[in-house]
Amino acid sequence: MSAAAKRIRKAVFPVAGLGTRFLPATKAMPKEMLTVVDRPAIQHVVDEARAAGIEHFVFVTGRNKGSIEDHFDKQPELERTLEERGKTKELEELAASLPEAGCTSFTRQQAPLGLGHAVWCARDIVGDEPFALLLPDMLHHGGPQPCLKEMIDAFNEHGGNHISVSPVPEDETHLYGIVGVTDPEAKVSEITSMVEKPKAGTAPSNLHITGRYILQPEIFGVLENQERGAGGEIQLTDAMLAMQKDGKPYYAVRFDGKIYDCGTKIGFLLANAVYGLERKDLGPALREELRKLL
Ligand code: UTP
Repeated sequence: MSAAAKRIRKAVFPVAGLGTRFLPATKAMPKEMLTVVDRPAIQHVVDEARAAGIEHFVFVTGRNKGSIEDHFDKQPELERTLEERGKTKELEELAASLPEAGCTSFTRQQAPLGLGHAVWCARDIVGDEPFALLLPDMLHHGGPQPCLKEMIDAFNEHGGNHISVSPVPEDETHLYGIVGVTDPEAKVSEITSMVEKPKAGTAPSNLHITGRYILQPEIFGVLENQERGAGGEIQLTDAMLAMQKDGKPYYAVRFDGKIYDCGTKIGFLLANAVYGLERKDLGPALREELRKLL
C-alpha cells in the first residue's frame, strides 16, 4: 500500500519547547500542562485527536516535561482513594481522559532546536506512514467538527499533505505563517505558496497556519537535511515549503471556529473564559461574576 493510501493512525505532539513567552509560569512546569478550566491544554488537544480517530499518541518531550508523561498514566493511589470515598464521577473522568495502555509513546528532543527538529525526533516511532501533527498550545474551539477530524476527512479524499488555516485581519498577517491558495474561499484548497511572517503588504493571502497538520513521512527525510532557519531553529515551514516546491501536493483546510494560542498570556486567559463560559456547571456563575467585574 502506498503512503498516500494509508490511514492516519498516529499523531505527534511536540512538547519540548521552553515556553519563554509564558515565564515565570513555565520555569519548572511545562506550558502544555497549564490548565484551561480543569484540564491541561495538552489534554484538550489529545481529546481532539481521539475524537478524530487517532489510535497512537506520540509525545516529543524534553527536560522538565515529566509531568506530561505522568498525566497520561494511571495513578493507582489516587484512584484507590477516590474509590474509597465513593467519588465515582471523578474516577470516570480520569478513566475517560486516558488513552489505552500501549497507545502512547514518548521520545526526547534533547535540545529545543525548533519545531522542525522536534517533528524529526518522532521519525522512528511514526515510521513509513502519513501522520497528524498537533501543536498543543493552539486550542481549536467550535467549528462544525473537531479541526483534525475535518482534516482527516480532507486527507481521505485528496491524499497528500494538509495544513489547517484560518483568516486573520490583513494588518496582522506579518505575525503568522501564511499560505497562498488557489481558492481562498474554499473549505479545502491547494496551497501555492507558504511564507513565515511576511513583511507588511507582501502576504499571499490572509490565511494563517493554525497548528494542525497531516504530513507524509517523506517530511522526515527533508527535515534530516534541513538547515537552521529563522531564529537559528530548524523550521517545519521551511521543510514543508521545500516539499511543496518539489511538486508534492499541499492542501489548506479552512477551520471555521476560533483559535486560542495558549502559548501567549492573552490567548490563555481568553481560552479559560470561553471554555469556562460554555460549561454547564460553571458557565452561569462565571458569566455573572464577569458581568459584575466589567
Ligand atoms: P512554540 O514556539 O509555540 O513553543 O512551539 P516554545 O518555543 O515552547 O514557546 P516560546 O516561543 O519560547 O514561548 C510550538 C510547539 O512546539 C514545541 C513547543 O513545546 C510547542 O508545543 N516545540 C517548539 C518543541 O517541541 N521543540 C522546539 O524546539 C520548539
